[in-house]
Formats: sequence, structure tokens, C-alpha cells
Amino acid sequence: MNDGFRLHPEQASEIAASVDALYFFQVGVTVFFTVLIFVLIWTFALKYGRARKADRILPPHEFWATELIWAIVPFAIVMIMFGWSAVIFVRGSQTPPNAITIDVIGKQWMWRIYHPEGKREINTLHVPVGQPVRLRMISDDVIHSFYIPAFRAKMDVLPGRHTFMSFTATKPGEYHLFCAEYCGTQHSFMRGRIVVMEPGVFADWIRGSTDEPPEVAGKQLFEQFRCNNCHHNNPGARCPPLGGIYGTTVALQDGTTVTADESYLRESILNPAAHIVAGYKNEMPLYLGQLGEEDVLQLIAYIKTLPSPDATPRSEAENSKP
Ligand code: CUA
Repeated sequence: MNDGFRLHPEQASEIAASVDALYFFQVGVTVFFTVLIFVLIWTFALKYGRARKADRILPPHEFWATELIWAIVPFAIVMIMFGWSAVIFVRGSQTPPNAITIDVIGKQWMWRIYHPEGKREINTLHVPVGQPVRLRMISDDVIHSFYIPAFRAKMDVLPGRHTFMSFTATKPGEYHLFCAEYCGTQHSFMRGRIVVMEPGVFADWIRGSTDEPPEVAGKQLFEQFRCNNCHHNNPGARCPPLGGIYGTTVALQDGTTVTADESYLRESILNPAAHIVAGYKNEMPLYLGQLGEEDVLQLIAYIKTLPSPDATPRSEAENSKP
């Protein structure tokens, strides 16, 4: 709940309890050794202080048992911490196949959220309880960090490249959202809330959206920048046709291949020279600096709707979008 500051935020995601268990184990180990070291310091100080009459005859140099214990025990403890945290890290970074992907754009100083159904939000993210969610995040300016303490989830949001974060909310309610990377004068105001809803309520909420789907704005941009002049399906096209390209494997000029996902399409829009498609020349202008991340997101949404030329007759393909 959003009820002010809490030292220990409630556990509201699938991974939260295991992160806490590891955290408390590490705190326990730290406290134990801190206390042990203090006790030993005071014990020896009192026992061997200058004024004390203690046995000061030099002991033999080698205590193999002691040396082995203080090498092996800390090593074992550190390896337990390493293995344990690696398991949690791998679990937390895996995305279940049924996850929904929501786009996040960080911008000084707000979070813009784009649901796949077209619904848009600012500084608030609604998600259904029990549903794996993957956030595909990018920044329009500097480094931000998307942090949901109740989910024990935090990931940097970088300019120029997508980062991902997955979670499954387990408890309906409202939770804090923070930017956890100092990003300018209003960094401390770059915060919001996560609203976890029952699936039925969420479905009604998303269905009630009147926001324009991103592909509509994407189509306008596509026409405004005359992408069609080169990217068309007719013979002699100067640039690769885009219909049905999303998710396919693209052969590149240098003999390698790449999957046409969001990151590849984004790079090809902003910096086409980075990966030239086999059989084409680098003739496309650079759109870096001309298009913001929101424009790119809308263009990609539109490109995804373009039907494959083999699958659909042309007339139908042209009429498929409003
Ligand atoms: Cu964005 Cu701090």
C-alpha cells in the first residue's frame, strides 16, 4: 500500500519472499561476524592490555586447524551467497512465455507507459494480479532506473538500448514506483505508482481505453517521412520490404543473420547503417535525433501490422489498416 515510508516494503511479487530470505541471511551473517569481531577485540584488549599480567611467551607460528577454518568457512559462506543469489537472479530475469509485454519510456522526469492494447499512462502502471509481465524499457535522454520496492524489482533504463524487467504481481493494491538513478534536478519527483488489479477488473479497465493505438500514429509518421517511397513490395524497391518482417530472421550483408525484433527495427530506423540487409545498399537517411523513442515505438507498432506480401493479396494488405 502507498501508506508512507516503510523500512521493509510488503512482498507483492513472486520473487519478493526469496529476495528477502537472501537479504536477511546476508544481514544475519554480517551481524554475526561484526559482533564476533567486536567481542574478540574487547576480549583480547582486556586480556592482553599493557597493565595485565598475561602469558606473553610467543606461541608457535602454525595453527593449521585454525588457518583452515578461517579460510574454508568464509569461502563456503560466500559461495552459498553466490549460488543462492545467482538462482534468484536467473529466476527473476527469466520471462515466462505467457508474459504480456508493456513498453516503458523514461524521460526527464516522467515514466510513459504503453500497453499493447493501445492504452497509455504516465507515472502509473496498471497490471493484473498473477499475470507475468515483461517491461521493455528505453530512455529518451539520460539513464533512469525503474524501481518497484514491493516487487523487489529494479532495472536501469538506458538511452539507445532496450532493457527488460519481468515480474508477476501476487497481491492487488497500490505500490510505489521510483526512479532509482540520479537523472537531474527533478529526479526525486520522478516517481509514480503501480496498481495491481484483479484480472477481470484489469480487463474492463483496458477495454475501456479510448487511447489511440500506437499503430495509428505510426502510420501517420510512416507517411510523413515517406518511408513508403523506398520500403514497398513492388519490384525494384530500394529498401527491404517491411510487410511481415517482424519476428523473421533477416540475412545481413556481412553474412550474419538477425531476428527482426523491436530492438533491431529500432536500430534500423535510427541508424540504418548499423546492419545492412543482404542485397541492399545503405541508402536510408539517419533518423537519429529526428525521431523520439515514442515515434519509434509507434512506427514499429505500425510496421508490425503490415501483412506479409506472400500471405495476403496486395489490395487486402493496403486496406487492412483504418
Ligand atoms: Cu529518472 Cu532519476
